[in-house]
Amino acid sequence: MSENQEKKVHGIVAEYESVDSLLDACRRVRDAGYKKTDAYTPFPVHGIDKALGIKPTHLPWIVLVCGLTGTATALLMQIWMNAIDYPYIISGKPFISLPAFIPVAFELTVLFASFGAFFGMWALNGLPRFSNPMFTDPRFDRVTDDRFFLYVDSKDPRFDEGSVQQLFNETGGQHIQSVIDDDSSSKIPKPIFAIWGLIVAFSVIPLLIVLKMRVTNSSSPRFHVFYDMDFSPAKDAQQGSTLFADGRAMRPDVPGTVARGEVGQDMNFLTGIDMEELDRVDSPRAERLVNTHLNPLVPQDPDGNDDDEATSPEVSAQAEAAQEPSVMDTTPWLKENPLDVDRELLALGQQYFGIYCSVCHGLNGGGNGLVNRRARKILAQSWIPPSSLHQESLYEDKYPDGKLFNTISNGIRKMPGYASQIKARDRWAIVAYVRALQMSQNASIDLVPQDRREEILERQREVEQKLEEQAEAERKAEEERAKRAGK
Ligand code: HEC
Repeated sequence: MSENQEKKVHGIVAEYESVDSLLDACRRVRDAGYKKTDAYTPFPVHGIDKALGIKPTHLPWIVLVCGLTGTATALLMQIWMNAIDYPYIISGKPFISLPAFIPVAFELTVLFASFGAFFGMWALNGLPRFSNPMFTDPRFDRVTDDRFFLYVDSKDPRFDEGSVQQLFNETGGQHIQSVIDDDSSSKIPKPIFAIWGLIVAFSVIPLLIVLKMRVTNSSSPRFHVFYDMDFSPAKDAQQGSTLFADGRAMRPDVPGTVARGEVGQDMNFLTGIDMEELDRVDSPRAERLVNTHLNPLVPQDPDGNDDDEATSPEVSAQAEAAQEPSVMDTTPWLKENPLDVDRELLALGQQYFGIYCSVCHGLNGGGNGLVNRRARKILAQSWIPPSSLHQESLYEDKYPDGKLFNTISNGIRKMPGYASQIKARDRWAIVAYVRALQMSQNASIDLVPQDRREEILERQREVEQKLEEQAEAERKAEEERAKRAGK
């Protein structure tokens, strides 16, 4: 501000010696109808907002609105991503699964609310502000020590220098003064620019170093900031180790280990192969499956002789799985599910099928799961589609339960095995459910109790109609795409 301009008066301030006199003065000022006021004290004084008639802050409302915005943002974002832009079944959950959305919603709620609180507080307090005219009076320094100040702003509609001074006088205020503009320059001091420039200059250095390292070669080893984190003695999964003879850091189960809760599950149950029968027939393949089950890390020789061409267990299990169906299957598979198939088991099977199988094979087992649809879209030619589970060759008479169990456990050709992810009991539940699915595709209405037939037929009509609509929509989308591609 230039010298000749008259100094602007911001308001009037008075000094008080005690909390009581300040509070008393506050009440008088409030009752006189002044609104744009403020009190400055060395420590928090209870009841001063009320004495000054200061309304509670709006900050909580700002925080609430920001928090709700965060919740809404998170939910909409996840619904858009999971259910609209890229619908994908994860762990058998519905596309819009609120419980799964909670963590992100919680985080964004907290984040937005904190931003609201932080920036809202700044905004409501008129910050950032580099200087305050209150500081021009050296007496004001005592506000952090032993003096109390009361201030009335000149923007107050009732402001009148004379009457405010008189009011302060009456309430025992001392050193009543006008608060005038700070006469220091409003320009940012030069040293700040210098510091700023230095910070910018220094912050470029790491970038330059990175840049240089990207374009040059070095024969010295990488620099490790936290050496013991980069080279922890603990091993990661699949890492090698010179400590053990087989060179692997991961250790297999001690042969014969039985997991908690799985005591009493016999080999029939765990492999899907009839052990008694195996004693009688000669089936090298079944022997190998059993051995692989017992010693998953010990390579099984596919030919049963002592050639040194030992393959890794994964490879031999895959070779096993890949065996052509044309080769006579001599494996003595269990013919029946060893568990009692009841409603509860089927429900369990349905759940696990939904989680592990439906992504590829589809919820109805028809082979058109979401992975298949997506893969056909992006991989087109090279994709091997999941089998439909409704082929006759997969029915119970040609494909015994034990074999289905083995397929789930060890996989087949392009399909991975699930023994490491699904417990044996749950795999058998899936077997039971697959059978139910297969039956459902060929069921006749005679299988349904008399009193529920009408209901089922009604459902069937509904489903057929829906399928038709779906096919229609798909056809349209296809045409649309073809049209666009043609353009
Ligand atoms: C990652 C996708 C994928 C998942 C998940 C999957 N499968 Fe498969 N499945 C396939 C593919 C692909 C094939 C066909 C393999 C081939 O022909 O190379 C197949 C084949 C099959 C077959 C036919 C086997 C045969 O002998 O022809 C059965 C039965 C089967 N799957 C059952 C299941 C069950 C039960 C589950 C759930 C535990 C499951 N699949 C999970 C991809 C999958």
